[in-house]
Amino acid sequence: MILSVHRLKKTYDMGGDNVVRALDGVDLEVERGEFMAIMGPSGSGKSTLLNLVGMLDRPDSGTITIDSIEATSLPAGKLPEIRGRKVGLVFQTFNLVTTMTAVENVELPLRYARMSGKTARQRSLQLLSEVGLEDKAGHLSTELSGGEAQRVAIARALALDPAIVLADEPTGQLDSRTSQSVIEMMRALNQRKGQTFIIVTHDPGVAAQADRIVRMIDGRIESDGPTGAAPQLQQEEILEAAVAPSSVGVAADVAAVAVRGHAPVAAGEAVATTYTAAATDAPRLPGWAGVVKGGDGLVVEQLDRLVDELAQTVATLAAAGKSASR
Ligand SMILES: Nc1ncnc2c1ncn2[C@@H]1O[C@H](COP(=O)(O)OP(=O)(O)OP(=O)(O)O)[C@@H](O)[C@H]1O
Ligand SMILES: [Mg+2]
Repeated sequence: MILSVHRLKKTYDMGGDNVVRALDGVDLEVERGEFMAIMGPSGSGKSTLLNLVGMLDRPDSGTITIDSIEATSLPAGKLPEIRGRKVGLVFQTFNLVTTMTAVENVELPLRYARMSGKTARQRSLQLLSEVGLEDKAGHLSTELSGGEAQRVAIARALALDPAIVLADEPTGQLDSRTSQSVIEMMRALNQRKGQTFIIVTHDPGVAAQADRIVRMIDGRIESDGPTGAAPQLQQEEILEAAVAPSSVGVAADVAAVAVRGHAPVAAGEAVATTYTAAATDAPRLPGWAGVVKGGDGLVVEQLDRLVDELAQTVATLAAAGKSASR
């Protein structure tokens, strides 16, 4: 067991009666070498969970054990060192130091760990070649594409050979093609080196690469299972989520679950709404198309028709007084 999370709770007291239960008793066990996705609507606690596991914040109660070290009982002074050795962090915004080159960014954690300059340089170049960027070592982060910058961030996360890499929406700022290549690269590192990954994502195309998908809702784990074994959703539930166009993420997640749960008609409708809603959210769009294509044999070209059908369904629901405007 590389990670064990037990009864984890975190609340944010916003004053008055306003207490946000960001995590409301989470249990999670992860084996070495797993490639796991965490999905769930906005505000469901995904980042909070990742930040706690990544020792960037402390829980109110509960325990986190990473690679046999109980992180939750460490004194504050020990956290940075243990964090550096045990977890590699990857963020949506890459978080590279802009005044440093790619290789210098990868070297940073090695230099903090007091590795000699020469050894650190060699190791960093090796890591950059593992993510396919040996020829970009001398580029500043501003001279890299988004996908390249994220690869550098991944190389940096791997520098100290961490027990787990934690990635919070690592493809959130990338177009769908770049997302796929970044996630495939992570997958390859997982398979080649047995590196454990936990990846928070809204993108079903990314989650589809995982062996296991944990879904969170309201600070709790709602489901946890192998990819493709999602529970069958009721048509009504899918539609309800699908007709709330403001919640692109939710509709998309539901669509993904529906596709996996073999509810092709309803899934098509949910995806179609996502497609509509995603018109204002272009980077997501091709990813969904990929899911539709891979899911139930629906082809991308059918989406326009599905959008029309969905519009009719929504109109019918609205006429029946069942509009999902909540
Ligand atoms: N520093 C904070 N102070 C107060 N409330 C917070 C803080 N961080 C998170 N929250 C609240 O905790 C809940 C969980 O937030 P979290 O960031 O974990 O959600 P998420 O699942 O990562 O969402 P998203 O998909 O939008 O990134 C939300 O209700 C959020 O508003
Ligand atoms: Mg988040």
